[in-house]
Amino acid sequence: MSTDTLTISTQPVAKSRISELDFNNIEFGKIFSDHMLVADFKDGAWQSPQIVPYGNMSLSPATSAIHYGQAIFEGMKAYRSADGDILLFRPYDNFKRLNISADRMCIPEIPEEIFMQGLEQLLRVDAAWVPPTAGSALYIRPFMFATDDFIGVRPSSNYRFTIFSCPVAAYYSAPVKVAIETNYVRSAEGGAGYAKAAGNYGAALYPAKKMQEKGYQQLIWTDAKEHKYIEESGTMNVMFVIDGVLITPSVSSTILAGITRDSVLQVARDMGYKVEERKVSVAEIVEAHKAGTLQEAFGTGTAATIAQIATIYYNGEDMDLPAVEGREISNRVAQELDRIKTGQAPDPYNWVYRISL
Ligand SMILES: Cc1ncc(COP(=O)(O)O)c(C=O)c1O
Repeated sequence: MSTDTLTISTQPVAKSRISELDFNNIEFGKIFSDHMLVADFKDGAWQSPQIVPYGNMSLSPATSAIHYGQAIFEGMKAYRSADGDILLFRPYDNFKRLNISADRMCIPEIPEEIFMQGLEQLLRVDAAWVPPTAGSALYIRPFMFATDDFIGVRPSSNYRFTIFSCPVAAYYSAPVKVAIETNYVRSAEGGAGYAKAAGNYGAALYPAKKMQEKGYQQLIWTDAKEHKYIEESGTMNVMFVIDGVLITPSVSSTILAGITRDSVLQVARDMGYKVEERKVSVAEIVEAHKAGTLQEAFGTGTAATIAQIATIYYNGEDMDLPAVEGREISNRVAQELDRIKTGQAPDPYNWVYRISL
């Protein structure tokens, strides 16, 4: 952990917009907190970060991120504890993953003190925006992008790092219908699938839209070579329970290493469940379903923690899964994780970063 203390200048808003927000009726992704953190990289160094009112940025039409996609992001949540503090879940892991993405996309690494102290100070300034309502949270979006106004294809010399946030309501979604994708590809070995790079998401929209037109809310990607092995879902890692064993694809160069994924596996192991991280073939899922041993399937990610899967489509057939209420492992782990994140359960893993107000 870096001990350098940064000076972060703060330009407060003239008038907070918080009165426009109804904490009991939060519309997703549309109302942003009053402030944002901004730091620029120029002349080969990160400049001092600043906290400024949330607002539009002025960019040249030649801004290289817009053309060539040197743009990466993170997603994390802050919760309000019962005693009024702000609790972040595993923020160092988001910091580390942002720099893994930066490395892959030729973006200079963000120093820990800018990310962590910037995040903490921003949350202190916008503390009122962390919802007090159970289940709600403040969604935080750190991101970095190339800012050269130059249309040659090369790594940019200038970059911007920004963090903004928006309150989000408790995530609830009915168990989803997903389809196993055997035509389009999200990521291939040697590609950038393990990075949270903007282009990965842009390129996934078209296949996802086609599946939605067929009635499936999400797709499950398979490997680019043979379409035989399960990879991950849209913005979630995927897990299955077959015969009481929790199974998930190992992380690789083609899969984003989800922080929720890692947390779910750890908690499940500590609850005494058998966990396997390995290649998971589509054939194995189909066979388990036929044999009646496919007990649970779900996605893991920051948005939902655990999103239950009701039906999996593959090769012309829908595989319907057992009712969600009876899914022991995912329900138990989801509950425990939510209790840790919100400070209601002890945190033996040191995952929670508390900002005492
Ligand atoms: C492609 C992809 N996979 C998995 C995840 C889940 O990651 P996490 O649990 O860190 O939110 C995300 C979300 O960040 C994602 O975008």
